[in-house]
Amino acid sequence: MNKLITILLGLIAFTACSVKSSKEKSTFIEGKEIIVDSGMVVSAHIQSSRIGVSILQKGGNAIDAAVATEFALAVCYPEAGNIGGGGFMLIRTIDGKTDVIDYREKAPAIASRNMYLDSSGNVSEGLSTNTHLSSGVPGTVDGMITAHSKYGRLPFSNVIQPAIDLAEKGFPVSERQAEDFNSNRHTFIERNGFRPAFVKDSAWKEGDILIQRDLAETLKRIRDHGRDGFYSGRTARLIAKEMKKGKGIVSEQDLKEYKSVSRIPLNTDYKGYRIITVPPPSSGGIILIQLLKMTDPYTIKEWGFNSFETVHLIAEAEKRAFADRSEYLGDPEFVKIPVEQLINRKYLLYRMSTFNERKATPSEEIKPGSPEGYISEETTHYSVIDKYGNAVSATTTLNNTFGNSVVVDSAGFLLNNQMDDFSVKPGFPNMYGLVGGEANSVQPRKRMLSSMSPSMVEKDGKLLLILGSPGGSTIPTTVFQVIINVLDFGMNIGQAVDAGRFHHQWLPDLISYEKNAIDSTSLKKLRSMGYILQERSSIGSVNAIMILPGGKKSGAADKRGNNSSCGY
Ligand code: DON
Repeated sequence: MNKLITILLGLIAFTACSVKSSKEKSTFIEGKEIIVDSGMVVSAHIQSSRIGVSILQKGGNAIDAAVATEFALAVCYPEAGNIGGGGFMLIRTIDGKTDVIDYREKAPAIASRNMYLDSSGNVSEGLSTNTHLSSGVPGTVDGMITAHSKYGRLPFSNVIQPAIDLAEKGFPVSERQAEDFNSNRHTFIERNGFRPAFVKDSAWKEGDILIQRDLAETLKRIRDHGRDGFYSGRTARLIAKEMKKGKGIVSEQDLKEYKSVSRIPLNTDYKGYRIITVPPPSSGGIILIQLLKMTDPYTIKEWGFNSFETVHLIAEAEKRAFADRSEYLGDPEFVKIPVEQLINRKYLLYRMSTFNERKATPSEEIKPGSPEGYISEETTHYSVIDKYGNAVSATTTLNNTFGNSVVVDSAGFLLNNQMDDFSVKPGFPNMYGLVGGEANSVQPRKRMLSSMSPSMVEKDGKLLLILGSPGGSTIPTTVFQVIINVLDFGMNIGQAVDAGRFHHQWLPDLISYEKNAIDSTSLKKLRSMGYILQERSSIGSVNAIMILPGGKKSGAADKRGNNSSCGY
């Protein structure tokens, strides 16, 4: 019987889809790498990319399309797309003005410094990652409403409606998604007292239709009541009830108080280009700028892509940047961050004065500077441009795949486990192996430090690149490598995104690298210089757009994931 229903639903969805595509076939194109004249969305799922482009085609601007894409991702990519998590959105309008909407989660009001330690002061394993207590107060809905009310053109209801339809009518899951749901089945059942939409009687297969009725109702409340549809009323009550059930601490009051923040982007010049990125509470922007400035004086172009000299230089710069992160970075509303000093050219030259061209400097010899004054992981990045030239670069997350796997009963959405991004105990590594101290300790209402790095690059005042990536601690180093692949190594955006990646984060003291990213001669040479090198699975999943000289837009959806470019 179930099978019959699935087949019937599949047929209905297929028909709807084929009607849509036959009507729109001539008007948009999609693929991993495409070139279009007008607008484009590159995101982690074909459904969200299509929805974003449909909003552009209905007269929406890049911000309308981004908000529609983000809500659609919450439906079609629950691994990381969300309304129960948070992120950062970098916006650049056609006149060159830039803005960051920080919709990072916050610690609940009764969170406390030692909340993840047992009575002997040891970290209680899994508490900051696998339980209701791992959730911060979600920021996504407020962030989207803020971005839309500042910059959107279409009515909010038009922008959120496609996500509601997608949740109600369902969509065919991809092969990888079917695997994700199957491998997480046990956790979904264990962590929820009911069977969320992601659990069905038999195993998921590619093409099965996922319908999310509770989520559709939650999205309707947001459509009809805006912020109040999530942060108060029924949704807030359901979140608070879910929290009580699982001994979590996000309260209705926390939800009422949550506000996203507009922040001034960070920017820097690099070899005649301007890099625009996000400020704290993400560490990503500062790390990206530090890496660009620390490596700038060296001749990486001559050394070549991922040659041992290039890898050595970048790894040494990364060790220094991540050591600084551990000491200085946190929520700017709680700690005074010496941002200007940390990205000061002289300071960074000084940091690199201990760089030894012939050998690796052990991480234990590298301490944070003194400026004056492994993993089941899933985050997602999308890039948007409209035909006018307005652009959005946004990264959003629940932290790891499906967050803490807790679905708010009757509201149909997953909660984040972002509290693990705090330093739960000084020197104790979080799930990305990142260590931190006082600056990123747990405090009530504080935002946990992030590595998300949605960024853009300009040349002569004109937009050139929009990019970002998931990948926890590897996010800023991934964004850095794609930028230098284009600016220094002259790759086109498809090649730059495809190219093999590597990563060093100070601690642990090793370079992790993707298969074939570094050739065997360079690997041998790097080992002889004192490096530990470890091959790992893919690093990051970049969704990028490059604006070509004649004004056409070239999209690159990373082949490392089911990412999809769609444009017209
Ligand atoms: O904000 C951060 O830095 C992390 N919570 C991001 C997590 C992530 O990228 C996982 N994805 N691959």
